[in-house]
Amino acid sequence: MEIHRYEKLWFAAALLLIVAFIGTIAYGSVVAGISMVDDDGGTIDSDNVREHPAFEETGLREAEDSDSDYEASVIAMQWFFDGASPLEVPANHEITFYVTSPDVIHGFQIVDTNVNAMVIPGQISEFTVEFDEPGEYGLLCNEFCGAGHENMAGQIVVVPEDQWDDDALEAVDGGEN
Ligand code: CUA
Repeated sequence: MEIHRYEKLWFAAALLLIVAFIGTIAYGSVVAGISMVDDDGGTIDSDNVREHPAFEETGLREAEDSDSDYEASVIAMQWFFDGASPLEVPANHEITFYVTSPDVIHGFQIVDTNVNAMVIPGQISEFTVEFDEPGEYGLLCNEFCGAGHENMAGQIVVVPEDQWDDDALEAVDGGEN
């Protein structure tokens, strides 16, 4: 059977595309460290999120429940991020985030990172992040959540390790917020 030259070229091109697509998935899961948020975070009563131990206080704290160095609780709600406006975290430390919503579905996307989670009422989205690059990162909601959706934004400030002071953390914890 004779295969025409152009046909062979198209075969080769199609094969190359398939290999490239598989390659991007492999790259995402292995090199870029992309993973799905699963149901590890557990469920929560969305009418009483602040009665859950993880959300009595929002913001950063030293780790209690996870193997990370720090934990951060954020309540994504119409239309702001309680605990992340802004949230200061140290660079080069593992931080486990707990994010939930008391009202509707929101998004939790940290610009210029691969952090992008959906926040569902009744569920806790749990994921661990380590920031290598100090700087100010925008935090966006990427799920349409009502009239104030476009303005729903927060900020993550990643402080260089040598400028980080855990005492400041204690002071905030001991304060009246
Ligand atoms: Cu919250 Cu859009």
